[in-house]
Amino acid sequence: MDFNNKVVIITGASSGIGAAVAQMAAKQSAQLVLVGRNMVNLNNVATKCEVAKGIKPIIVQAELTNDEDVKNIVSKTVKAFDRIDVLVNNAAVGVRGSIKDGIEPYDRVMACNMRSVYLLTSLVTPYLIKSKGNIVNVSSVAAFKPINDVDYLPYCISKAALDQFTKCVALELGSEGVRVNSVNPGGTRTPFAENAGFSKKQVDKLYESRNKNYPLRKIAESEDVADLILYLASDRARSITGSLYVIDNGEMLL
Ligand SMILES: NC(=O)c1ccc[n+]([C@@H]2O[C@H](COP(=O)([O-])OP(=O)(O)OC[C@H]3O[C@@H](n4cnc5c(N)ncnc54)[C@H](OP(=O)(O)O)[C@@H]3O)[C@@H](O)[C@H]2O)c1
Repeated sequence: MDFNNKVVIITGASSGIGAAVAQMAAKQSAQLVLVGRNMVNLNNVATKCEVAKGIKPIIVQAELTNDEDVKNIVSKTVKAFDRIDVLVNNAAVGVRGSIKDGIEPYDRVMACNMRSVYLLTSLVTPYLIKSKGNIVNVSSVAAFKPINDVDYLPYCISKAALDQFTKCVALELGSEGVRVNSVNPGGTRTPFAENAGFSKKQVDKLYESRNKNYPLRKIAESEDVADLILYLASDRARSITGSLYVIDNGEMLL
């Protein structure tokens, strides 16, 4: 795989899977645009990326639920590179909520996990048509089945919507040479659960049960998922569009 001279935007690049995608893409000479909120983490990731091939990434601090911040991602990228080849819609929140909790958790999750993806993708699309580029959306196995040990109703809905978005946009842009695919991870070791409000003790318990119960007896590492994302973003996946790729150590079999 080679991303030499390819401009790659990664949302949620400050942590977990997005940070792993950034570091792996940096090793393949990508021109990176790292998007997130936490500047300390973004700077750390950028430094690691720069060490790989000496290419300094651009950092864009953005709250994705703010439309102006989303527009700023595209304008800063175009100003710096005048092109966009790959968009990795990776950022998401795992707000907990059940049907008994009212509409607030739904609005909060959809604003980040779906609405911002819609807006950013629509703004990036003209550039992807020009470059014959592609999009990888980071979804979840929660798009296919409810999660039985966590109240994640809005999150599951947001990921199901994202999968349909992947397929609809892939169909719409296929004739213009733009591919759109999804990676749907199962349990992956990242700060995601802690960011969703679980205590360290609860996270350890969650990981322990998943390491014991998943068919492959382990959860995924961020790098496992990043590897698949970059495969789909590369020319090696030139005949793949509208596809949803599960990477879950067998969780969907349970
Ligand atoms: N970990 C899992 O088990 C798992 C399983 C299935 C799917 N996924 C999916 O994998 C993707 C990456 O998650 P992760 O596990 O790597 O989690 P993570 O470590 O918590 O990373 C989430 C990233 O999203 C960013 N983000 C969240 N809300 C944002 C907002 N409103 N505006 C801007 N950025 C925002 C965070 O930025 P800051 O930290 O800078 O705020 C962070 O970089 C997500 O789409 C998630 O749904 C994860």
